Amino acid sequence: MTENTPQKDRTFRERVVSDFRFLKSWAKQPKSVGSITPTSKIAARLMASHIPTDSDLPVLELGPGTGPITRAILDFGINPSKLVSIEYNHDFCTLLRKSYPGVNFIEGDAFDLETTLAEFKDQKFRALLSGLPLLNFPTEKRSDYVTEGLKWLPKGAPFIQLCYGPKPPVKALPGVYSVEPTKWVLSNVPPARFWIYRQTA
Ligand SMILES: C[S@@+](CC[C@H](N)C(=O)[O-])C[C@H]1O[C@@H](n2cnc3c(N)ncnc32)[C@H](O)[C@@H]1O
Repeated sequence: MTENTPQKDRTFRERVVSDFRFLKSWAKQPKSVGSITPTSKIAARLMASHIPTDSDLPVLELGPGTGPITRAILDFGINPSKLVSIEYNHDFCTLLRKSYPGVNFIEGDAFDLETTLAEFKDQKFRALLSGLPLLNFPTEKRSDYVTEGLKWLPKGAPFIQLCYGPKPPVKALPGVYSVEPTKWVLSNVPPARFWIYRQTA
């Protein structure tokens, strides 16, 4: 919690502009944006609270959108230079680079980490935080996503997945990885919780 001073709250105007941009992107690409509003501050904080504090490794974020989870990660104390964040949407990337200087935003595909993270070959991350709307994708694509993501983490490190459904987007694979839920955040729109995957073998 000591690597970074907390970011100041955004102004009301900045929030309205970024929420409007999010809604516009959802209208254009409902499947990949997945929600009409960004994740709430309370939910994003809960997600970031699962980042291990006993590691110097960087943090990996997938699907930052307009950045509520990015902000929570930085507020949790992660230095911007220790955060790599992958977003598919060009407009979101432009906004994110302006709003969170020092964070390494990569415009690319989170389903193809080998290509998108080519410059980080052999790097491990202390945690992966994913905001992708996984339930909008076929089951096989989802489980490949979890398997590929876990390869970038040391054994036991958390892969934290945002989810709006009552069941995990990918079931545990006994002997390979486990999954456990956090509590629900009912004030989020829609209500959300997180599923935490950990490599066990
Ligand atoms: C449900 S929104 C979550 C945004 C933000 N993390 C939040 O919590 O408000 C999903 C985000 O994932 C991004 N996304 C969807 N598919 C992606 C992909 N294949 N690679 C990278 N980002 C992707 C979308 O552009 C969108 O910004």
